[in-house]
Amino acid sequence: MSPVSPPPPTDDVLGFTDVRIAFEEGRRVLDGLTARLSTKELTFVAGASGSGKSVLCRMAVGLLRPDTGSVELWGTRVDTLPERELVRLRRQAPYLVQGPALLDWRTLRENVRLADPHAPNEAVESALEQVGLLEWADRLPPEVGPGAKKRTAIARALVLGPRYLLLDEPTTGLDRRAAAQVEDVLASLKMRGLGGLVVTHDYRQLKTLADRVLVVAAGRCAYLGSPEGFLTSTEPSLKVLTAPFMEGATDG
Ligand SMILES: Nc1ncnc2c1ncn2[C@@H]1O[C@H](COP(=O)(O)OP(=O)(O)O)[C@@H](O)[C@H]1O
Ligand SMILES: [Mg+2]
Repeated sequence: MSPVSPPPPTDDVLGFTDVRIAFEEGRRVLDGLTARLSTKELTFVAGASGSGKSVLCRMAVGLLRPDTGSVELWGTRVDTLPERELVRLRRQAPYLVQGPALLDWRTLRENVRLADPHAPNEAVESALEQVGLLEWADRLPPEVGPGAKKRTAIARALVLGPRYLLLDEPTTGLDRRAAAQVEDVLASLKMRGLGGLVVTHDYRQLKTLADRVLVVAAGRCAYLGSPEGFLTSTEPSLKVLTAPFMEGATDG
């Protein structure tokens, strides 16, 4: 038996180490954030508006580079990776912006195909099937609801055959029914073992969908742990986030 423990495997790790970034002089959005996530898990990112959740997602795949600190994905230093290789990495870990960003004059199927013009038909059909949109595939985005638009955006990521998904507020602005459709998609991806980083303000999702919760506050990782631990925490910086939700949840 070796007295030295082996280094932890980095194969399934998204790691942020002492990451700092400022867009304006004197105001760091991230200010020494360190977190180590498993890309086999669904990690939900919580935090106040403007706390840096989107910045964190973008940094994970090199759409933003930290001023200092490092970002590592699957054993590769993302923050120093050349753009060419980042493009390849982002096919394995696509980042979905908050809006669906579809072409309105192309059908849902064509929108999915645009992600990868070389994708075989089966891959396109499979991506549409995974989000429950096969029957709607010939419609145009303006002919479908916001939930279907969002699911099309997810299918467009799935057609790349990703290892990880980064979803920025996938249910924000959706009505309850459309949000539930997107949540169903997340649940089925989770069941199939696809991990992801999901920014949300709807903490109802945490109980059923999250393996882990990461809270960004004051530029740092204020919490990284189980959803239950977050939701029941009495720590003031966490309670300020969960209290309105917990009240809302008991209101009926
Ligand atoms: N590209 C940018 N240029 C200037 N400021 C930015 C940029 N991206 C983010 N910010 C600022 O960083 C802060 C955190 O932004 P963001 O990560 O979008 O917050 P949120 O937690 O709501 O997703 C905000 O104050 C925002 O204005
Ligand atoms: Mg955001």
